[in-house]
Amino acid sequence: MQDLDGKTAFITGAASGIGLGMGRAFLGAGMKVVIADVREVPLKAAAKSLDAGDRVHALVLDVTDRAAWTRAADEAERAFGPTHLLCSNAGVNIIGPTQDATYEDWEFCLGVNLGGAINAVRTFTPRILAHGEGGHIVITASVSGLFTGAATGVYATSKYALVGLAESLRADLKPHGIGVSALCPGPVQSELFESTSVVRPQALAHSGAIAVVAPGQARERSPIFATAPTADETGRRVLNGVRRNDLYIMTHPEIRGVLDARARALAAALPDEPIDPVRVAATQNLLNEALYQEQIAKPAP
Ligand code: NAI
Repeated sequence: MQDLDGKTAFITGAASGIGLGMGRAFLGAGMKVVIADVREVPLKAAAKSLDAGDRVHALVLDVTDRAAWTRAADEAERAFGPTHLLCSNAGVNIIGPTQDATYEDWEFCLGVNLGGAINAVRTFTPRILAHGEGGHIVITASVSGLFTGAATGVYATSKYALVGLAESLRADLKPHGIGVSALCPGPVQSELFESTSVVRPQALAHSGAIAVVAPGQARERSPIFATAPTADETGRRVLNGVRRNDLYIMTHPEIRGVLDARARALAAALPDEPIDPVRVAATQNLLNEALYQEQIAKPAP
């Protein structure tokens, strides 16, 4: 989506961090921005901090609440007219050995990260298609949706799913002139670990997760976050990715080695057998290389 001036963005999980950074970047591009979040007090503070007068509308939304999605989309339309740019960004993080994750960990993390994105897509895609003015959808996944290691099983499961959702939705919406991007950041300065503990419902409180940030500990002192880009920087990368209609929006060139290793590992696991041309022809619709080739053909962002 090239022409953003005067168009409307709807961003979930925008009370802080990356969502708020996106909001700031989109406002800078002349957009009207709806920021949605389940944390009401930080949301109000975020709206104030954006300092963009009547081009910002804040609304409280729990992304797991399906009925509330329709009300939120209606409210956004009443405030700013049709939505063009949907950013499904709300998320929570669970860290700990996968074998220790409780059903409550799974339900909570998949419910917000994956369920929230499904609700976002289900609510807004028909509306974007209906207004016919084109649009773009950004789904915040993570580098944890591209490769993984110990202690991220629950989170990575949700984020791998989101990459699959974004890739497939992109193929579906391309003929309609609607772009889709998977945002895959590495560590970014944000409130993720703090907000996760605040938004976790009591009914899903039983957890096998490891507390990453102990209460009162300065997260900024941890090496991962001390070297992390800011949320505003990340928001600007998202804006650029939307304008370029990128399949993936990335933040960390440092992950190249592990991405290469994973791609090579996948290829190395293929049976060393002759390729059957009849089978290739039969499965051609599934082998959608063009989806990926399009990104390969672009200059680096
Ligand atoms: P953040 O904590 O600053 O923002 C996440 C927001 O989501 C919070 O404001 C929180 O209140 C909201 N949220 C949580 N559950 C919600 C629900 N049920 N309904 C509505 N809002 C809800 O953290 P950050 O890092 O900006 O997170 C944004 C997204 O970025 C998440 O999806 C996260 O998984 C992803 N991400 C973050 C990375 C990082 O290092 N900060 C790296 C890769 C991905």
